[in-house]
Amino acid sequence: MERVTLHDKTFRIYVPNEEIEKNIQAVADRLNRDLADAEHPVFLCVLKGSFMFFASLMQKLTIQPEIEFVRLASYCGTQTSGEVKQIMGLTGDLRGKTVVIVEDIVDTGNTIVKLHELVKEQDAAAIHTCTLVMKPEVYDKELKIDYCAMDIENRFIVGYGLDYDQLGRELKDIYILDEENN
Ligand code: IMP
Ligand code: MG
Repeated sequence: MERVTLHDKTFRIYVPNEEIEKNIQAVADRLNRDLADAEHPVFLCVLKGSFMFFASLMQKLTIQPEIEFVRLASYCGTQTSGEVKQIMGLTGDLRGKTVVIVEDIVDTGNTIVKLHELVKEQDAAAIHTCTLVMKPEVYDKELKIDYCAMDIENRFIVGYGLDYDQLGRELKDIYILDEENN
């Protein structure tokens, strides 16, 4: 599909599935190497947005991960609200574990910084940050993003887990807001 319309907006294709998978494989290769000696690192899936990235990444791991889920929300439409709420809390025991936080996208970084604090409070032994997409022009936090599959410009995207007002998460490619048609 070249274009897709969600609610009132039209998006055009931006990153095809094959390229997304290739970039995820590169991240998985690094994680497999870097965490080869960690004992069952915990991969923390940040819902809802990272479900598709998370599944693909897990399939590419050769280390044996444990898996946990957390759900946060900070976004309203195409504008970030700045406030981050914990909707489905962290339940697993992270004490003494190596934890990899897996996000869909790092924009202002409010969400990942908040998550990093939450995981730290649980006395994890080591915390790594991993994201499918990052907007480096917007990110202004001190926290280092250790693994990023793709950098993008400061534009709104959907697909591969990412939504526009809850639509578009199922799309296997990533789409960008089409300025000409909105
Ligand atoms: P941050 O807290 O500003 O880094 O934003 C992170 C959250 O905002 C992500 O987990 C997404 O849910 C949402 N978000 C940021 N940019 C986009 C985008 O381009 N498309 C869809 N969701 C986005
Ligand atoms: Mg999200």
